[in-house]
Amino acid sequence: MDDLIRAIAVVRAHTDMEPDLTLVLGSGLGALADAAEDAVAIPTTEIPGYPPSTVVGHAGRLVFGQLEEKSVLFIQGRVHLYEGHPARALGFPVRLAHALGARRLVLTNAAGGLHPEWAPGTLMLITDHLNLAFASPLAGPVGEGEPRFPDLSAVFDPAWIALAEQVAVNSNLILRRGVYLWTAGPSYETPAEIAFFRRIGADAVGMSTVPEALQAVALGMKVLGLSTITNLAAGLHATPLNHEEVMEVGRQVHDNLTAWLRALVAATPLDA
Ligand code: HPA
Repeated sequence: MDDLIRAIAVVRAHTDMEPDLTLVLGSGLGALADAAEDAVAIPTTEIPGYPPSTVVGHAGRLVFGQLEEKSVLFIQGRVHLYEGHPARALGFPVRLAHALGARRLVLTNAAGGLHPEWAPGTLMLITDHLNLAFASPLAGPVGEGEPRFPDLSAVFDPAWIALAEQVAVNSNLILRRGVYLWTAGPSYETPAEIAFFRRIGADAVGMSTVPEALQAVALGMKVLGLSTITNLAAGLHATPLNHEEVMEVGRQVHDNLTAWLRALVAATPLDA
């Protein structure tokens, strides 16, 4: 808790912005923050309590800026379980965003697709999740204002999903819908694991997003999730997976994703 208070003080020395919404940028999607106007960037290394980011392609910065006349906090460089952080630390960026005033959270990620017909570059709105990492940022003491046992019957806000789909239709962008499955990583999956994940109802698999969504729901925030399918999951295609391929597809969808995000931010209502 002390860390959170110190973190807020550091941020407030740079900006007094209260974000209307917060956007967490996934692998290869960090450049989306370039769309911000009047940006103030703070390296996460300067923020007390912020878990150090160690992944190539995940520059650790908080960027505060305007997008479509709304105040947006871009989180560039998320933190993952596979980096060795305790599960609780994965909720820190979201707790900070909430403490700064954000009540809405957009989570983006790169994910493996579980449908052979989903080409790399397919975009998927997350309708629900499966937690196969069996970890939670909520384990431990109950956070201030958080319930001990949060309800997860609508983690990803149905009204916001409907709005996001409408925005996509208006900009001629095809969005799939599906269930995102969180694994601890850091290895990609075995073909047997992927066969199992398909049978239990997953549409995409990745190593992020769920912990932030859990933290946000506990804080009463509205959450929207979008996966970029960067590759077919293990066993569904001939060549081995690698991180460069994931990053490259992330860059290829950048323009489409930026256009959709701008329109989404413009259409998203401001909360009282
Ligand atoms: N598996 C897990 N995480 C991923 C993948 C994948 O195939 N692609 C991008 N992130």
